[in-house]
Order: sequence, then C-alpha cells, then structure tokens
Amino acid sequence: MDAKNLIGGVWSGPKGKVQRILDPATGKTIGKAPSSGAKEIHAAVAAAKEAQRGWAAVPAPRRGEILFQVARVMEARKQELGRLVTAEMGKVKAEALGDVQEAIDMAYYMAGEGRRLFGATTPSELPHKLCFTLREPVGVCGLITPWNFPIAIPSWKSLPALICGNSVVLKPSGETGGCATAYVECLVEAGLPAGVINLVHGTGEEAGAALVAHEDVPVISFTGSNATGRLVSAVAAPLLKHVHLELGGKNGIVVLDDADIDFAVRAILWSAYGTSGQRCTAGSRVIATRGIYAQLVERVAAGAKALKVGHGWKEGVELGPLVRPEAVAKVERYVKIGVEEDKARLVTGGKRPKLPAALKQGFFFEPTVFADVTPSMRIAQEEIFGPVTALMPVKDLDEAIEVHNGTPFGLSGAIITRDLASAMKAVRAFKTGIVYVHNGTIGAEVHLPFGGVKATGNGHREAGIAGIDLFSEWKTVYIDYSGGLQRAQIDR
Ligand code: UN1
Repeated sequence: MDAKNLIGGVWSGPKGKVQRILDPATGKTIGKAPSSGAKEIHAAVAAAKEAQRGWAAVPAPRRGEILFQVARVMEARKQELGRLVTAEMGKVKAEALGDVQEAIDMAYYMAGEGRRLFGATTPSELPHKLCFTLREPVGVCGLITPWNFPIAIPSWKSLPALICGNSVVLKPSGETGGCATAYVECLVEAGLPAGVINLVHGTGEEAGAALVAHEDVPVISFTGSNATGRLVSAVAAPLLKHVHLELGGKNGIVVLDDADIDFAVRAILWSAYGTSGQRCTAGSRVIATRGIYAQLVERVAAGAKALKVGHGWKEGVELGPLVRPEAVAKVERYVKIGVEEDKARLVTGGKRPKLPAALKQGFFFEPTVFADVTPSMRIAQEEIFGPVTALMPVKDLDEAIEVHNGTPFGLSGAIITRDLASAMKAVRAFKTGIVYVHNGTIGAEVHLPFGGVKATGNGHREAGIAGIDLFSEWKTVYIDYSGGLQRAQIDR
C-alpha cells in the first residue's frame, strides 16, 4: 500500500518526491511513501501544537477510553496489519502478528494508565500544609521510529505520549511507511481528535532533522543507530529538550556447564535468528563455559542450519529476509571480517542461500554461526543486525560476566543455568538495562521499562511506567492552610 501523511486531520498520499517501499522477500516495489521535508514537518508541528491544548483538557480517563478503542481497532485489524509488517520488512508471520500484539498490549496498558498517572502525596515539614505532585503534559512530542518493529515501536512511543495529554508528530522509517500509516489509521478510527496525532514520512536527513530542530517540539524520542542518536542529542541539547535515545545492543547469552542444553539451544536460536537478527535485543553473542561449549557449538550450528528460510508469511518459515540489500551487504562484510580477523571459525552459514525463483531477488542471508570468537574481535563488539551469532568459550562465571560486560553496549543480557546463586550473581553483575534468567535476550514486555546503559542510550527508558516519565513533567504543589505565613527551613 502507499503510505500517507496525516497533518491536522488531513491525509495526503505520495506526490512529487517519493520513497519506494519494497517487499524484501521478492525485491519488488509494493508501494511508495511521501518524501517530505521541513515544510510538512512545520505544518504538522503547528497542527499538533494547536490541538494539544484541547487534548490536555480532556480528562485522562477519557483519553484512556480512546486508547482502549485503539486496542480494539487493532485487534480487529490484526491479521491485515501483520501481513503488512511481513510485506514491508520481511519478518515471519508469528513475529509480525506479535509486533501488532505488542501495540495492542501497549494500548490496553496505557489506556488503564489514564485512571492512574499517579503522583505522590507526602508529609510536609510544617503543620497545616499539604504536599503532592502532579504529572503534566509537555507539549508536542517528536517521535522517530525504525523499521524493525514497525507497529510496536510507534505504539511504545505514541501511546504513553498521548495518555499524558501530549500531541504527536510521528516520523517513521521510510522502509515501513505503510505500517505506520495503518497504525495511525487505527488511532484516527478510534476517535483521536484531528491534529493530536500527525504523521510525516521522509528521510532522517530532511524530515527527521527538521523535527529534532523544531523549537516547538520539546520532546524527542528516537530509536535507531548510535551515530544518528548522537546527532539528535547534539541538535536537541541547546534547545533543552527531553531526549530519549535507544541505540542498539550487542546482547550476550551466558550458558553455564550445568544448563539444560536442549533448552539453551532453543533459546539461543530464537534470540539470534528471530527477526533474522534484526532486533536491538538480538542474542548476537553466546558466552559458554568450557564443559558445555563444544557441544553447544555443534548443536547451535545444526539448529541454525535446519532453520527454514523463506517468505515470512508462508507457514513453517522460520527465517525471513533482511530489510534491504544494504543490510545483506553489511552482514557479508562482517562475515569477511570474522573470517579474516584472529582465529574465529565460521561453522555454518556465511552466504546468501539458494532459494526458489520467486525469492531470487529477495534480501536473504543464511543463519550464520561463528565459534572460537575472542571477546575483542569486531564481530563480538559491533552490532551486525543480521542472522549472525558469535560463540565464545570461557573458564567460569566470573570470566563469563567480564566478557558479557565487555562491549560498548548495554541493552539486554541472559544467563542459562540451573544454579540460583550463579543466576543471581549475573542478575546483579550484568551491565545491561534488561536481564533474562533462563531465557534468551529477547521478549521484553510492554509494562516494564525497556532500554539500556552505556552506548545503548542516554539514561532514559521507554515503555512501562518509565515511559510515562519521558512524556510528562512533574509539578510539585504545596498548599498551606495554616492561615499564616509559614516559612520552610526557617521556622523551626
Ligand atoms: C527492538 O529491537 O528495538 O524484546 C525492540 C524484544 C522486543 C522488542 C525489541 N519485544 O526483543
């Protein structure tokens, strides 16, 4: 489908300059999106600013009722939205429907938040005085979203913003413009007033940059590359914006000798090759103690080799394509680096698969396993964003933790062991925003904070209650009913 802009309640399709939307499984053009720039962004921000005051005046529980309706509309359209996710970015059917489900979950969660939005009441230092806090909306929120969760991530950012009484300008990734359009349609169908949600398609350099630089947009939430995240920060800093950044990971799965190996293999395959490795949370490193290491390499490689590669919407397919030819080229580059650097062993994969004629022009890559990787190698340090995982042997839990923490990123980490004390040690020692025990590194739930430390972000979290912090300002209220002038800190 063609993607459309929505500005002040008015839809407009692609004309003039456009971005092509491709089906990554076939390489075919399946639609186009507007390639808008500063002009459309300015119009959208003006519409959002105008609409925000009215929206903020709607009681939060009433705003929540509209978000409940958003969830219901998405439920009714789930299959259609899922199909669109697969068509535009390639992930397999179960995951595409899961992408939509995450948005549905977020809509229900944030709808309920409309009846909470809790502040705090606390005692005062003085008699006959009441102290409490309120959450206030911030204004127009500029949201810049990637293609890998084309429905879920727009929902993670927009629904908390909306429940707090903000208005939104969403600038989604060009690859998945149809998904963003369909998502925003659901919001409109649910009854969100005109101008409260606006959608502008365009490149990061044009539309994204104009949004980040706009002085009437006090909040920016961005998910994408580390390099772009730094640029966003630099532009937003002198304008004193709230900036939230989610910039990727190099997530490690620690497997100890006592682990259930069948389970560990399944968890690794799911984390490494789910979404073809195109998740910020992808399990791109496996750090295993020596007693289980050799067998794990063999079993993970056999499992990876057996994954069924194909069109994501076809029943039984486990690995879809990568999003674009450039992504395939990037993975190929990293495979070459892995082979050339140090003494890593390419155990399986490493090339484009042979596929039937209909998928020949698709952007596929074989599930790839490297073994005997050393912690400082580039394939163990840099985010590849493809179906590649690197196995590394270590002598014990302490070394595993050290290797686990030894990358610039800090999004998610996992430990698989039957020993509670080892698991608890890892929970405390991992330098990540998310830790999984007895699981892989993916599967974050929407009512818990999502994000990470170090180069993964800038200290904020989205989703969960932490997501509300991003989109609200605290107002502290002191009410003195003593009838006199009481002076805090002085009258004692
Ligand atoms: C992302 O890749 O940016 O935990 C988000 C997970 C998903 C979200 C990933 N629920 O892998």
